[in-house]
Amino acid sequence: MIISIALYAFSLAFLLFILVCCSNFIFSVLSFAPWVPSRGRDLKRIFKLADLRPGQVFYDLGCGDGRTVIYAANNFKVKAIGLEISLLFYLICRLRQALNKFGNIEFKLKNLYKENLAPADVVYFFSIPHSLNEKFCSKLRRELKPGAKIISYSFKLPDWQPKAIDKPSEKDLPVYLYEA
Ligand SMILES: C[S@@+](CC[C@H](N)C(=O)[O-])C[C@H]1O[C@@H](n2cnc3c(N)ncnc32)[C@H](O)[C@@H]1O
Repeated sequence: MIISIALYAFSLAFLLFILVCCSNFIFSVLSFAPWVPSRGRDLKRIFKLADLRPGQVFYDLGCGDGRTVIYAANNFKVKAIGLEISLLFYLICRLRQALNKFGNIEFKLKNLYKENLAPADVVYFFSIPHSLNEKFCSKLRRELKPGAKIISYSFKLPDWQPKAIDKPSEKDLPVYLYEA
């Protein structure tokens, strides 16, 4: 009897977890972008444009599995913050953090629109053109300090002149650098 109650409770909790993850996923698609990771082999040129200095603050807006956040903290001695709205990906980030000894990292289960980006020296994102809209750009303009770097992977910001574009060859995805 106790075992079947425990099994029932476990199945219910598991179902609830799946439901929360699915609704989070749908919300993330509608809100900013679905999960597609930045290519590992592109991290080097992304961070070359970011030109991070020790002690600076790096943000990934929608950090997915946390790869850019971990890369930033481990290679540049910065404070690296990952914002992620999907519970599943947030838990993956926290698991990676718990299993490894990374640098100065903070993962937040948070809608990026609810975070004040004023402390950022560099913000990074990989989104879709539809989400790189006026709402998003005006948040960057309003909150980022002058001179803060903005790095967009694959897609450019509308009405914003890039300081640099990195696209070594036809088959490579572009990386755009902007300055606030
Ligand atoms: C294209 S993926 C990029 C993942 C990671 N930045 C990378 O480069 O590998 C976009 C991520 O943003 C997350 N996301 C979507 N909307 C969001 C929001 N409003 N706030 C925070 N994260 C969001 C998604 O769950 C997804 O993991």
